[in-house]
Amino acid sequence: EIPYQVGKEQEQTINVVTPFQKSLLLGIGSGTTVIYVVDHLAKKVREHGLSVKCIPTSHQSQQLILQHDLPLSTLDQYPQLDLLIDGADECNEDLTCIKGGGGCLTQEKIVAYNSDTFVIVADQRQRAFIACSKQSQYLGQQWKGGIPIEVIPMAHVPIARRVEETFGGKVELRMAVKKMGPILTDNGNFILDWHFPENTNTKKWEDVNTFLKMIPGVVETGLFVGLAKRAYFGDSEFGEVKQL
Ligand code: A5P
Repeated sequence: EIPYQVGKEQEQTINVVTPFQKSLLLGIGSGTTVIYVVDHLAKKVREHGLSVKCIPTSHQSQQLILQHDLPLSTLDQYPQLDLLIDGADECNEDLTCIKGGGGCLTQEKIVAYNSDTFVIVADQRQRAFIACSKQSQYLGQQWKGGIPIEVIPMAHVPIARRVEETFGGKVELRMAVKKMGPILTDNGNFILDWHFPENTNTKKWEDVNTFLKMIPGVVETGLFVGLAKRAYFGDSEFGEVKQL
């Protein structure tokens, strides 16, 4: 049983059955929401002696695990995990998500793919001073940052052109700070943000993802299709947690 908290008041639990005396092999996602999960997890590990091995999905989550003095491990040691808890930028009703707003999509998808259960925890985001949910009926309804695509740097221009010619919309190279150049991922790559047109929603996201992945130079996309098993959405105003 993994307790965690979304918002101030609510406490939720996820039941994960692990054989007696086996450590829970837990993927720790990236982003700001996961910080609350790790804070709470560390408290429970201290209080109840819960046995976990934590596998990070980014440099950020590795630091988080170390700061909380949780046991750090790798996919080299444990290639199949029990559970991954990670955030998302947007999640539709099929649990198809956009991730990578913070730049960590590739390692996140590797860990998600190799976890028995992938659970999303999503809080709200401020947009124009209004709290917006990350839960949506269709992708792009709530999240306006597009779909992140991690690419090999020398291929970013032809990839951007190919995506725009095929699907339309606008592809932008993600910059670190204005005029400071492109951001680099944990893997030393660039990120393209594809602002897809609304009619992309009429296509199957799985097919769109496959097309993108087949372009030489594309490392990974922030489209997570068929990976998440459950999603929890926190509501700061009412302190509620909705489950999908
Ligand atoms: C990291 O790049 C992302 O995939 C995050 O999981 C996602 O952007 C959600 O982050 P927040 O919890 O900070 O909104």
